[in-house]
Amino acid sequence: MKIFLDTANLDEIKNGVDLGLIDGVTTNPTLISKENVDFKTRIKEICDLVKGPTSAEVIGTNHMQMIEEARILASISPYVVVKIPMTEEGIKATKILSSEGIKTNLTLIFTPLQALVAAKAGATYVSPFVGRLDDISNEGMKLVEDIKKIFMNYSFQTQIIVASIRHPEHILRAAKIGADIVTVPLNVLLKIMKHPLTDIGLETFLKDWEKYKNR
Ligand code: E4P
Repeated sequence: MKIFLDTANLDEIKNGVDLGLIDGVTTNPTLISKENVDFKTRIKEICDLVKGPTSAEVIGTNHMQMIEEARILASISPYVVVKIPMTEEGIKATKILSSEGIKTNLTLIFTPLQALVAAKAGATYVSPFVGRLDDISNEGMKLVEDIKKIFMNYSFQTQIIVASIRHPEHILRAAKIGADIVTVPLNVLLKIMKHPLTDIGLETFLKDWEKYKNR
């Protein structure tokens, strides 16, 4: 399973890259707006740092605007993946962009059938938002299970990015389901490496070693 960081913050990305665990990055307009930097410059910086798929989202709402923006974004770096909202216009844009070899990530996916049409349109990735479904008392990870089954039934090459991850349990379930990728905030990624018994055990080992050294 690949791990992407869900952020536009360079310090967080450097931190993740230093861990050696990061395969790519996803951004969205909200994450970019928090950084107060030039959008395209930041996308280039992220691509150069991560050297892996980096999602940058279009803002246009009709397919011609989306395609125009997508071509510009794709020219920033070969690592750019154009994030397209899951709408009728988004599907039209995806079909054309995929025929041009531009990679796409269909975002704001909330049903298995949205994922099915995105895959049929040639999307490189789909991003089901599990946390936002949990927020409205739906089971976000059930959506991922359904998409996985559908993609396997028809051998779609479209990869599943589990998005809107809130806690380690989402990552565990994604791995059990066999999702291709999880995109996670840095704080959640750091949590999956921790356990209180690891800390307690290490503390005891070090104390005992001190006693042994000073015997
Ligand atoms: C994914 O590509 C999105 O950027 C992100 O996961 C959305 O997460 P949120 O629901 O925490 O905003």
